[in-house]
Amino acid sequence: MRYPSLIRVFVTVQLLAGHATAAVYSNAATSVCCSLLAAALPNATFPRDMSNSSIYRIESTHFWSSTEWLDPTCVFLPTSTADVETGVAIFYHHDCPFSIRGGGHSAIRGAANIDDGILMSMRQIRDVTISEDRSSVVVGAGLTFGEIYSAVDREDLSIVGGRFGTVGTGLLLGAGFSYFNNRYGLAVDNVKRQVVVLANGTAVNASSMENTELHWALKGGGNNFGVVTHFDLFTIESTGVFGGRITYPESSLAALDEATYNYHTKVAVEDIDVHVLPTYVYDGVTNTTFGATPVVANANVTELPPSLSEWQQIEHSNYTLRNTRYGTLADELVAGFPNGLVQSHYTFTIYANKQFFSECLSLWRQFCQSFSYLDGFNGLHTVMPITQRAISEGIRRGGNPLGLERSVGTNQTLSVFYLGITFNKRADIEQVFPAWEIFIRTLQALAKERELLFPYIMLTYSDHNQQVLQSYGEQNVQRLQRVQRVYDPTLVFQRLVTGGQKLPL
Ligand SMILES: Cc1cc2nc3c(=O)[nH]c(=O)nc-3n(C[C@H](O)[C@H](O)[C@H](O)COP(=O)(O)OP(=O)(O)OC[C@H]3O[C@@H](n4cnc5c(N)ncnc54)[C@H](O)[C@@H]3O)c2cc1C
Ligand SMILES: *[C@@H]1O[C@H](CO)[C@@H](O)[C@H](O)[C@H]1NC(C)=O
Ligand SMILES: *[C@@H]1O[C@H](CO)[C@@H](O)[C@H](O)[C@H]1NC(C)=O
Ligand SMILES: *[C@@H]1O[C@H](CO)[C@@H](O)[C@H](O)[C@H]1NC(C)=O
Ligand SMILES: *[C@@H]1O[C@H](CO)[C@@H](O)[C@H](O)[C@H]1NC(C)=O
Ligand SMILES: *[C@@H]1O[C@H](CO)[C@@H](O)[C@H](O)[C@H]1NC(C)=O
Ligand SMILES: *[C@@H]1O[C@H](CO)[C@@H](O)[C@H](O)[C@H]1NC(C)=O
Ligand SMILES: *[C@@H]1O[C@H](CO)[C@@H](O)[C@H](O)[C@H]1NC(C)=O
Ligand SMILES: *[C@@H]1O[C@H](CO)[C@@H](O)[C@H](O)[C@H]1NC(C)=O
Repeated sequence: MRYPSLIRVFVTVQLLAGHATAAVYSNAATSVCCSLLAAALPNATFPRDMSNSSIYRIESTHFWSSTEWLDPTCVFLPTSTADVETGVAIFYHHDCPFSIRGGGHSAIRGAANIDDGILMSMRQIRDVTISEDRSSVVVGAGLTFGEIYSAVDREDLSIVGGRFGTVGTGLLLGAGFSYFNNRYGLAVDNVKRQVVVLANGTAVNASSMENTELHWALKGGGNNFGVVTHFDLFTIESTGVFGGRITYPESSLAALDEATYNYHTKVAVEDIDVHVLPTYVYDGVTNTTFGATPVVANANVTELPPSLSEWQQIEHSNYTLRNTRYGTLADELVAGFPNGLVQSHYTFTIYANKQFFSECLSLWRQFCQSFSYLDGFNGLHTVMPITQRAISEGIRRGGNPLGLERSVGTNQTLSVFYLGITFNKRADIEQVFPAWEIFIRTLQALAKERELLFPYIMLTYSDHNQQVLQSYGEQNVQRLQRVQRVYDPTLVFQRLVTGGQKLPL
């Protein structure tokens, strides 16, 4: 055992109280931190204030999923790395629980917000600096991808980031599906450097030159190692994109299922400059399932390349593809994903398999149909490829902890499933979530029985009771634990930042 005394204390407390943070950390400790913060950074500290337009209220409820609406003791809005250093040093010295919020798109309760602790929102860290040689861009951790694309579009550059405008940079600590995956690998693999505030409140650079193990750990290690204030991202020369969304009626589902498999195993492998996000939507009001698929060619062209013609040929009801810029595209795609509904999503990974794709689609439809009566019920189902090229691009850029190289010998595409549900009222959670979890576990069991299951669970699409970091493989977990021992010897990011996917002790 490593840290015997610390572990014992922490584990005992967790066993005693289901809601460990509330029980262990009295409001008194947290209040001390909020007071010290208010004294040190008065303009960045906001006490509890539920009046309509207070910054406290905006920050504590501005989340994609209402499962994240919690009751922090105060909100901290740092505007610089120095502010974050001040804040973390206070939390460290006084043992105050805190959360770290990027774009607020995690649906996991407590991943980026906190009851009776400090909600640190990165929102005001928003600078964008393109390097002189244009090969990289430093972005503040409080920006959304829509904002980042718009800033670099103007300079005829792009980056490997999220596809939906309002999503935040927490994605760059998880994995990162992007328009550019097929050529450049995952978003985490295209981070050149992170600026990280460590547990003791000291900022360091992590890159292939400095703090290299920390740099590696942050390419999938989430909020377990520090607070990232800036990401330095490799850039891509880009003068424009051809893309948008194609909407398909229910009668096209079989053809879409076919096209999805073809995309995973052939198109994404052979034409690395295109991107498709095969997407099915279940609408509870009409009790129908339809396709709503982003289709993108990463070139400044005005028509679809032949490799994507299948998507155009399938009977569709709407087609928004045109020559545009990534910022505009990212804003268009996110329009149907408003903040503030109840959201839950699970993920798992398989080796691409046509029969499983079809069965999963059919079972998911049936599951959704059984909840059509629920107020505002919708389902979202996507299947996304990680090609062997994408995996090798990750290795070439220094590697990451995700353990994807365990598939290299097979030379097969990995297919990441995202299965999500949405509804209006938090009061309905108890009614749906248990059945939903069992349903997902059934699908995973089916994949396992068929010998299709690949152990990787993608952090950014996971739900709270999925064992994400464990899924990276034992060797990677041990290497991550070694990084933790060096950079966070007193386990601040375990004990005080309790939300989200944690590294096993
Ligand atoms: C509408 C929508 C579209 C999406 N599109 C994509 C997509 O195209 N590709 C993709 O890969 N994923 C996508 N996702 C998933 C997305 O990557 C995750 O939701 C991710 O967690 C979002 O990051 P965030 O900063 O918005 O979230 P947050 O909830 O703010 O943060 C997520 C986690 O990261 C931690 N974190 C955030 N910032 C920091 C920081 N600076 N330092 C340390 N820890 C931090 C938080 O503590 C939290 O645990 C999408 C999600 C939604 C809801
Ligand atoms: C806080 O903001 C006020 C008003 O803008 C300003 O006068 C003051 O100098 C600021 N204080 C600090 C510590 O930045
Ligand atoms: C606060 O918001 C609610 C709902 O949006 C509104 O009904 C109410 O009038 C607002 N109150 C104030 C004081 O603005
Ligand atoms: C990190 O690197 C940048 C760019 O090289 C440098 O300007 C900055 O001072 C470094 N910061 C730290 C904390 O070492
Ligand atoms: C929804 O549609 C399915 C078939 O597509 C049907 O079996 C089911 O009864 C419908 N549910 C409702 C509530 O109409
Ligand atoms: C990009 O394509 C558009 C549409 O054809 C064109 O108007 C624009 O000039 C192109 N930009 C560059 C830099 O080639
Ligand atoms: C197609 O989508 C666009 C963009 O969302 C929308 O403005 C338009 O009304 C849609 N057209 C049809 C026929 O649904
Ligand atoms: C891997 O698969 C691709 C696409 O199916 C194929 O072109 C390539 O030759 C295969 N490589 C190896 C080493 O088998
Ligand atoms: C902060 O922690 C790092 C990593 O453990 C360590 O190298 C550094 O010396 C510490 N700084 C201070 C001021 O204690």
